[in-house]
Amino acid sequence: MNLILTLSFVATIWPSLVLGHEPSPLQDFCVADFNSIVKVNGFPCLNPKQVTVDHFLFKGLNIVGNTSNYLGVSVNRPTVNEIPGLNTLGISTVRVDYALSGVVPPHRHPRASEILVVLEGTILVGFVTSNPENKLISKVLEKGDVFVFPFGLFHFQQNVGSGNAVTMAFLDSQNPGVVIAANAVFGSRPTINDDVLVRAFEVDSSVIDKLKAPYH
Ligand SMILES: *[C@@H]1O[C@H](CO)[C@@H](O)[C@H](O)[C@H]1NC(C)=O
Repeated sequence: MNLILTLSFVATIWPSLVLGHEPSPLQDFCVADFNSIVKVNGFPCLNPKQVTVDHFLFKGLNIVGNTSNYLGVSVNRPTVNEIPGLNTLGISTVRVDYALSGVVPPHRHPRASEILVVLEGTILVGFVTSNPENKLISKVLEKGDVFVFPFGLFHFQQNVGSGNAVTMAFLDSQNPGVVIAANAVFGSRPTINDDVLVRAFEVDSSVIDKLKAPYH
C-alpha cells in the first residue's frame, strides 16, 4: 500500500518536476495565441510573423481609478490576458488607487511574489506568515517606500494617510491570480456549508449567515 501511495505521489509530482517552472527562453518571445485550440500551461505562441508592437503594449496605467466602491480602492491589473506579450515571461504589474481609508482586503497570489512601490500617500501594509506562527509582518509606508509580499502569503494594504494614495506593484507571474480570503470562504458558489464554517470560525451560524450575506 505504501509503495502504491509512493508511486502515485511520484507520478503526481513528476510532471511538475519536468514542467513546473518555465524554462529559460528558447526564443525571443512567445506572444499568447488566445485562439489556439492547443491547451498548455500558459498559452501557445502566436506565429512570430503575426506579432505586432501592440502585443507588448498596454495603455492607461496613468489613469486615476474610480474608488467609489465599498472597499474604496481601484485595481488596474494588466496580466497576460491584456498584454499577450507577457506570455511565458513571468512578470506583470498592477496599479492600485486608494480613497481615504481604502482597503485591499487580505488576499494572496497563488502564482507570485509581489514588490510594491508607494507613489503617493501613506499605506499600511502587512502579510501573515504560515501556520503555526501566523506572525503579522506590518509597516506604515510613505511615498517612495518599497515593500515585498513573499510568494503566496496573505497580505493587505490600507490608505492610512490624509489624502488619496497610489501604489504600483510588480509580480513574478504573467498571471498571478488573486484569492481574496473573505470571498473564498464566505463568497464561494455554491456556498461552503454553515456547519463547516461554524466550526472553523467558532461562531454560531447567524454570524456565518451575516458574513455570507454581502456575497449572495
Ligand atoms: C465611479 O463608480 C461609481 C460606482 O460604480 C459610479 O456611480 C460613478 O459614476 C463612477 N465615476 C466615474 C467618474 O466614472
